[in-house]
Amino acid sequence: MPSDVIFAPADPGFLRDRYPTYRRLRDEAPVLWTSLNGRRCCVVTRYADVDAVLRDERARVQPEPGAVPAHIGAGPAAEFYRTLPCLDPPAHTRLRRLIMPAFTPRRVQGMCGWIAEIVDDCLDAVAGAGEIDFVREIASVIPARIACRLIHAPESDAETLLSHQPALNHVLSQGDLTPHALATADDAARFSFDYFGGILDSLRGRLPNDDVVGALLAGAEDGDRLSRTELVTTLIGLLVASYHTTRVSLTSAVHSLLRNPEQSAALRAEPGLAANAWTETLRFDAPVHFVWRDLAAPVQVAGERLDAGTHVVLGLAAANRDERRFPAADRLDISRADHRHMAFAAGAHYCPGAPLSRWEGQIFLTRFFARFPDAEVTADEPVRSHDLTFASTEALPLRLGRGA
Ligand code: HEM
Repeated sequence: MPSDVIFAPADPGFLRDRYPTYRRLRDEAPVLWTSLNGRRCCVVTRYADVDAVLRDERARVQPEPGAVPAHIGAGPAAEFYRTLPCLDPPAHTRLRRLIMPAFTPRRVQGMCGWIAEIVDDCLDAVAGAGEIDFVREIASVIPARIACRLIHAPESDAETLLSHQPALNHVLSQGDLTPHALATADDAARFSFDYFGGILDSLRGRLPNDDVVGALLAGAEDGDRLSRTELVTTLIGLLVASYHTTRVSLTSAVHSLLRNPEQSAALRAEPGLAANAWTETLRFDAPVHFVWRDLAAPVQVAGERLDAGTHVVLGLAAANRDERRFPAADRLDISRADHRHMAFAAGAHYCPGAPLSRWEGQIFLTRFFARFPDAEVTADEPVRSHDLTFASTEALPLRLGRGA
């Protein structure tokens, strides 16, 4: 069967609701050969297969060991490219060892006080508005403010910093990078290196060790330290990695809960379920739909031998709806006990921001549903982005009701 009979990423029906297609892929073509961005690849969608590939050392993120892809050039964008998601061992292992201590449970829990203040402040700002676009007025504001606070950038700079993100994301995406897009990415990287370099200079020697940037500056106990370029790239990476995913997750969580009124009622009745509700909404509608790997050696997937050099596109959102793993996978159930979903991926690149995201989500859902118990979605079909990887909702009109 031709691959586009099942999987047509540009089809309006797919873009409106991707999950029926993911079901067909899992059931009828768990390894689907197709072409994305002009590149031959295979799409893998069952939970067990996605999980196995992500944990397999033969599945790499660098097609050429140690090399930056030639189309990214040798300018500032290429420096930016040498960041965690684009590196394999041993460079990746070393960077993770230096970065992970910044995200210990104790350090992350220490941020809860100021995260709650930011959330309250943002909810205060919309109280009285009656009707709002949740994406623009809440979901975009909270992660921008949290990210700035995390990396010690003034919140007033958030808009400028985020305006450079699309150009930098382009370098990390699989899309074709035109000479114009590369020049824009080089400019964005140049700006970011100057900006974040300035922040680091102003912070050196002033931060306690329980601060995320303080921990990054401190380095490892054996004396190994991030270089200045690595530090700057890491700060940019934290902004890039946290902003978009959190914006999309907050939107999906509220949308999914309001579209399942018995679940939002259960959360309002028992606010202690907020952490679970956040996790379940991430499973139900993961913000990152696909990640990719290149095979450095042959690997067996769903009974098929994939040769070395195969480009594998892994469906995280599809895996999260796999009935083979999650009973009644298409049902949102905030009391679900199985939390091993794929929204944060798995294996060597498992999201280091996951513990922080859990606190953000828990704090946000508790406060939002307590404050606006009658909130309702006022659009039948919220606007969805066409990006294959980031299937975000671009606008979510809400009537806030009582409490507004
Ligand atoms: C709900 C929110 C979030 C989601 C759904 C999410 C999802 C992901 C996913 C799927 C990956 C793996 C990519 C791959 O395997 O190729 C990842 C990696 C990463 N995330 Fe997150 N993320 C979230 C929030 C954050 C936050 C808050 C931070 C930091 C403050 C962060 C920092 C990172 C970094 C640095 C990586 C790269 C790790 C590596 O390659 O070793 N993320 N994230």
